[in-house]
Amino acid sequence: MYTPLPVVILISGRGSNLQAIIDRTGSGELPIEIRAVISNRPDAAGLEHASLSGLETRVIDHTDYADRETFDQALQACIDSYMPGLVVLAGFMRILTPGFVHHYQGRLLNIHPSLLPEFPGLNTHQRAIDAGKREHGASVHFVTEDIDGGPVLLQVSIPVREDDDAATLAARVLREEHRLYPQAICWFAEKRIFLDESGHIRMDGKLLDQPALLPAGTDAAC
Ligand code: GRF
Repeated sequence: MYTPLPVVILISGRGSNLQAIIDRTGSGELPIEIRAVISNRPDAAGLEHASLSGLETRVIDHTDYADRETFDQALQACIDSYMPGLVVLAGFMRILTPGFVHHYQGRLLNIHPSLLPEFPGLNTHQRAIDAGKREHGASVHFVTEDIDGGPVLLQVSIPVREDDDAATLAARVLREEHRLYPQAICWFAEKRIFLDESGHIRMDGKLLDQPALLPAGTDAAC
């Protein structure tokens, strides 16, 4: 048995990954305690999911702050009041300052809808189609100052179909994201995976020289 890991989840919008994490926590598969869900947008739909599940929600509206530094300081103070062992970015659409990222080094995860290092940034699905990719997917990585460039711990890969457009591809990737993120969070919570002092990922005591791959379509073995 594990003591549940205290977690804070940051969102900006829809919150479907948040919902997947809530569901897996509620079913007892994820050994975490979600202490708060924080949004930088007051109208984020994910806040509703969180409230309906009885979770504490907070809004730190970035438009109330003069610059990135003061916003990140306020966000950091809010997060730290919950004393999380892990901070999960789940569709949190803000560029973070180096000070913020450094403060949470090794306990800040993000999910990105591409097979990183391919297609960092936005519009990943259309860019994968335009590039003629046969495979596309999603990645969970530790966050570093390099946007979408931190060490990747887990990926899922799916085939791109001939008739895919960005919307159909995004929908299939998103379904996989909902298995991928809980799996990565579970490994972190169980201390199976961590970022070592030199910035390398270790899994089950060994250096992870390439991301672990979650087989598509199977149930995550948390
Ligand atoms: C996901 O595609 C995630 O990979 C990206 O932002 C999107 C968030 O979707 N970082 P949701 O808010 O979790 O539904």
